[in-house]
Amino acid sequence: MAKTLKTFADPQKLQKWCAARRQAGAKIALVPTMGYLHEGHLSLIAAAKRKGADEIVVSVFVNPVQFGPNEDYEKYPRDEKADLAKCRAAGATAVFFPTPANMYLDGHSTFITEETLAAGLCGARRPGHFRGVCTVVAKLFNIVHPHLAVFGQKDFQQAAVIRRMVRDLNFDVKISVAPIVREPSGLARSSRNTYLSDDERARAVALSQSLARARADVAAKGTMPWRAYRAKIVKVLEKAGLVVDYVEAVDAETLVPAKSLSKGVAVLLAVWCGKTRLIDNAVM
Ligand code: PAF
Repeated sequence: MAKTLKTFADPQKLQKWCAARRQAGAKIALVPTMGYLHEGHLSLIAAAKRKGADEIVVSVFVNPVQFGPNEDYEKYPRDEKADLAKCRAAGATAVFFPTPANMYLDGHSTFITEETLAAGLCGARRPGHFRGVCTVVAKLFNIVHPHLAVFGQKDFQQAAVIRRMVRDLNFDVKISVAPIVREPSGLARSSRNTYLSDDERARAVALSQSLARARADVAAKGTMPWRAYRAKIVKVLEKAGLVVDYVEAVDAETLVPAKSLSKGVAVLLAVWCGKTRLIDNAVM
């Protein structure tokens, strides 16, 4: 019989429940999200299930600390009721809906900064973003104390930063990264896709198309100089009316820029599609 879905808003109550479940021998998985759940998030719950988790805790929290002053914190889409139904259908066993006030008590003044992997790419364009991500994820780890936490590959740099934080700070949690889930057009699933008009949606397909082309080219031709190839990608994105934020090729583990495009290198893209910032990536 399917378990009933528990909901929590109070970090202490969730912490107590998780500790009791761990004590009773349950394997606990955490799926951290900002809600407005889509197929990508559901694939993270499915991955936790496949890995044999007895309790799957989904956190739904639009974390104010990871948004810059001119970013979309206020307008970030929210739908608790739909998220709850989706969690239930996907087989989560607990959902955590904290409020900013109970996650960040008055006078909160402790933050975590990863200083190397978080420095470039999205970290350079969104100052303070990964400080906010690391801080909230560390808090979630301390509240849930999961055996396993599942993140999506769409936020490639985020996954690398969190892995590093876990290693550096001796968090007792295994990190699993699940593949990007795409719409039939190839567009990577994202809660922010809801901002896109039909026309923007059509133009945004250039992201996944560029990545698919790069993978095919590497498979067919082997190693290629990155500078020239990068210029080709930029041209394709600009032709689609996208404004390039960055187009980078990096070592998939260290995020150090690569001089050539070859098997194992990660290509990371960030563009503005109208007022919406979109990211996508692929490992060659
Ligand atoms: O990837 C996200 O949705 C967020 O950055 C995360 C990991 C839930 C932290 O707020």
